[in-house]
Amino acid sequence: MKAGIVVVGSLNLDHVVTVERLPLEGQSVAGRNYVAVPGGKGLNQAVASARQGLPTAMVGCIGSDPAGEILSRVLASEEIDLRFVRRTEGVSSGIALITVAAGGANTVVVAAGANGTVSPADVAHATSVIEDAAVVLTQLEIPLRTVEAALLAGRRTGALTVLNPAPAHAALPRRILELVDVIVPNETEAQILTGQRDPAKAAGALVGGGCQTAIVTLGSKGALLLESTDPARAVTVPPFAVTAVDTTAAGDAFCGALAASLAKDTFPADGVLVRGARRGAAAGAIATTVLGAVPSLPDAADVADLLAGRPVAARK
Ligand code: RIB
Repeated sequence: MKAGIVVVGSLNLDHVVTVERLPLEGQSVAGRNYVAVPGGKGLNQAVASARQGLPTAMVGCIGSDPAGEILSRVLASEEIDLRFVRRTEGVSSGIALITVAAGGANTVVVAAGANGTVSPADVAHATSVIEDAAVVLTQLEIPLRTVEAALLAGRRTGALTVLNPAPAHAALPRRILELVDVIVPNETEAQILTGQRDPAKAAGALVGGGCQTAIVTLGSKGALLLESTDPARAVTVPPFAVTAVDTTAAGDAFCGALAASLAKDTFPADGVLVRGARRGAAAGAIATTVLGAVPSLPDAADVADLLAGRPVAARK
């Protein structure tokens, strides 16, 4: 039986400054604290999956700089297979400049660096792990042709393909959407992708556009799930009440925990998607309670606690 998850995506070092409120255009505000933490949507989702106990492999690129060293040490310490993370000479690792306001709202600016060099050849090089994977999970912080190669490789080897279309592209070609079993945008990304403000209509457009299932994450309102087999029936996934301090990587926690749940369950079967989305929503909620991307990602026990209504242990 296939097991495990392959994440094809970005790795960034996040430079995070906390502020009382986000600056307006042209305005300077005083920061409170600065911290550098590992992040990047690909790395976050790989760590989120690994912390749910799933064998996880990462395909991506780091630079030949100290940030690249930090990022590869994170992969190793999380026991993520990093054989297919390529170190690119003379290129910087990806970085993100993040401001986080009181209450958790943020702004994120990413310089792709080495992430811009992840190629279809990197995906081809990882064929051996993709052949063993139950889920191939990817995002849009690497070149689109590489995303397409990852989805295609997943389809060819019988893996479930999951796309987190973040950051959103105005429109994704139908040939890419048709390679996606589960697409997981947030509300804004769903609107950018489809032009629909209403999440249910956006989910309908994504399913009509070729994806098998759309799960639109709605932040503190939970999520909405729509399957192509029953496009008239959107399922609401309820939220978990938490006190948010930083929403960075909440979507990544959702995607990693969802992918882990789908890889563990027998797919397709009744209730598997809703169960996965519920675990994703719980993981996303927990991630908002801690500052920073990778440091905020919950493990399986945390998610089980929140699902059972028990208090979640404070993250280290
Ligand atoms: O999704 C959160 C991530 O987006 C951050 O960790 C940052 O690196 C950007 O890629």
